[in-house]
Amino acid sequence: MVGQRFIQLLVDHPQFEVTAVAASDRSQGKTYGEACTWRLGGEMPNAIRSMKVQPPSPPLDCDFVFSSLPGDIARETEGSFAAAGYPVISNSSAFRMDEDVPLLIPEVNHDHLGLIEKQKQRYPSGGFIVTNPNCSTIMLALALAPLHAAFGVATCVATTLQALSGAGYPGVASLDILDNVLPYIGGEEEKIETETTKILGRFVNDRIEIAPMTVSAQCHRVNVTDGHMAAVRVKFVRKPELPALREALESFRSLPQELGLYSAPARPIVVRDEQDRPQPKLDRDAGNGMTITIGRLAPDSVMDYRFVVLSHNTIRGAAGAAILNAELLSQRGYF
Ligand SMILES: NC(=O)c1ccc[n+]([C@@H]2O[C@H](COP(=O)([O-])OP(=O)(O)OC[C@H]3O[C@@H](n4cnc5c(N)ncnc54)[C@H](OP(=O)(O)O)[C@@H]3O)[C@@H](O)[C@H]2O)c1
Repeated sequence: MVGQRFIQLLVDHPQFEVTAVAASDRSQGKTYGEACTWRLGGEMPNAIRSMKVQPPSPPLDCDFVFSSLPGDIARETEGSFAAAGYPVISNSSAFRMDEDVPLLIPEVNHDHLGLIEKQKQRYPSGGFIVTNPNCSTIMLALALAPLHAAFGVATCVATTLQALSGAGYPGVASLDILDNVLPYIGGEEEKIETETTKILGRFVNDRIEIAPMTVSAQCHRVNVTDGHMAAVRVKFVRKPELPALREALESFRSLPQELGLYSAPARPIVVRDEQDRPQPKLDRDAGNGMTITIGRLAPDSVMDYRFVVLSHNTIRGAAGAAILNAELLSQRGYF
């Protein structure tokens, strides 16, 4: 699912061109057109159709690697590319929490790229790994970033409703999810709880100081194709008035917008005031899938405030996020 999004988003990219594709031994040796059943709207891009699928091991004919491998095999595979001198822009969970690996959202923690310098000890060849967060973590961390900067987030409780495409293909069996909600997604709650505090942490003395906040997450798989949602409650160190909270979200812009990076949405966060928004079907494509949408912003009787956040899980939550990371790395001269 993520690989196809990469192909779709890269086909007309002004800076990057797909020069090689790699996948499992089910696909190796076939053309991409033979190996892949295209699951996205529109046609499989012609430029990629006749490309031979290779094993995911160096050397590959490319300047850097996008990886969306399953977490359990990503560690060895991504590590072998970094060791061979390739920058690896990863979507997988394998390296996200490593101390010397940036867990990057360009709008939130671009200064964490300083960690790449530390990877020179691990990969003297000059290769390195940069990761993007879990697909639900991204929208939560992006929503919390301007709030944490302005008011300090003390505690956050998030209950997610996650789309089927987040489970890859073929994903969840239809008989398990039709007429149903699954209250368990393996490893997801821990990822949201730990990744968020790393992303919102400060880069001090060549390391990340984990943000001093507690995050609690409960995750559910729901019968939606694309678009993860989370109901969020937040307690602040300095409780703001509601208009100040709204303004902090709505006015948020950052480095990717200033630099005009190709995949950066004009507005990373849109706040909607209609009482029945955001909705996956209506809001997942905001900003070409790179804008997160927040609604239901209101005082909360237990915590300080609550809201609902939504983002496109395979674009802002995966391939689009990795491509934006690569655009920032390229702009910063890393390749
Ligand atoms: N879906 C999302 O919304 C989302 C969001 C954020 C992060 N992620 C992460 O991105 C990764 C991929 O997710 P997905 O949803 O795209 O999964 P997917 O649809 O199951 O695709 C997995 C891909 O990995 C390849 N692969 C599997 N085993 C392999 C092996 N042993 N060697 C080489 N390649 C292998 C598969 O190759 P074949 O095509 O040959 O089978 C396929 O292309 C996962 O780590 C996931 O956690 C997903």
